[in-house]
Amino acid sequence: MNMNIKNELLKRLFEAEGKPISGQEFADEFGLSRTAIWKYIKEFEEEGYEISSIKKKGYVLIASPDRVNTANIHKYLQTTTYGWNIDYYESCDSTQNLAHDAAQADAPDGTLVISEEQTAGKGRLSRPWNSAAQKGIWMSLIVRPSLMPQQAPQMTLVAAVAIVRAIENVAGIEATIKWPNDIMLNGRKITGILTELQSEPDRVKAIILGIGMNVNQDEEDFPVELKEIATSLKIACGKHIDRAKLIAEILGFVELYTKMYEKHGFGPIKLLWEGYSNIAGKRIRAVMLNETVEGNALGISDEGLLELQLDDGTVRGIYSADIVI
Ligand code: BTN
Repeated sequence: MNMNIKNELLKRLFEAEGKPISGQEFADEFGLSRTAIWKYIKEFEEEGYEISSIKKKGYVLIASPDRVNTANIHKYLQTTTYGWNIDYYESCDSTQNLAHDAAQADAPDGTLVISEEQTAGKGRLSRPWNSAAQKGIWMSLIVRPSLMPQQAPQMTLVAAVAIVRAIENVAGIEATIKWPNDIMLNGRKITGILTELQSEPDRVKAIILGIGMNVNQDEEDFPVELKEIATSLKIACGKHIDRAKLIAEILGFVELYTKMYEKHGFGPIKLLWEGYSNIAGKRIRAVMLNETVEGNALGISDEGLLELQLDDGTVRGIYSADIVI
């Protein structure tokens, strides 16, 4: 099956906004038979698309399934590379694990591993990550930028800025970034980022950007232990969000900012990040694996470290911690 033609057909049906697409004209344009087009239409119907066939006029797309499958994402995708190769699952243990395997097996730059649900989603420090079916975005993007291994942690900040911009465009609300890897709305977490590395001593082989985003949950969808600390885009903006559109938008911004980081270094990303961060100037506690320190957050360094001024006046650069504001 030629995925590109099938995707193009879906894209045309979608862009026609309820007007019919002629099966004959599409078949002629791509050198296919009308039966081949009809087969694609049947496949779409099996995948949950509702399509009407109007005599002598063609096919009309009535409704798309609420799925983050390849066809739905490609309908909106405007990137050069990221997201054109997609491994889609109805269910899996963790997209992060699958993306690691795919990267090891030479999956190309920008490959997206995405699932409707995860049965063993993982967060930072191997904490469990709640990933309910069809409610959120559970995805891992494999990127292969030309960076040194020590530059990889900054990709969390690149992704954070990209996600905030995408949310702004699709949901019309401005989220804030809580260093290093949380995106917050109204004081609650909507997104976590897990950046993992496959590396050689002097060059990054692949970075696996794991993104977990609460999108269409209602209050009652969250388990009791998350009710006070998590929220979703739907709760915050009062409307159901097209996850596929949001994913395409995230991929667009991650691609843009990753290229910017490769070309111009961390400076421009740092400026963008500071505009969305809620941490500078605040008194915070940084809980690390072996110690906890308190002080005033000054901002982030040129390397992406959190700069904390301790009460004795010294400034400490922190690589990774849980932040309590
Ligand atoms: C965190 O805030 O601790 C990071 C959460 C990252 C969760 C995402 S969901 C998609 C990908 N697969 C996983 O198992 N984890 C990441």
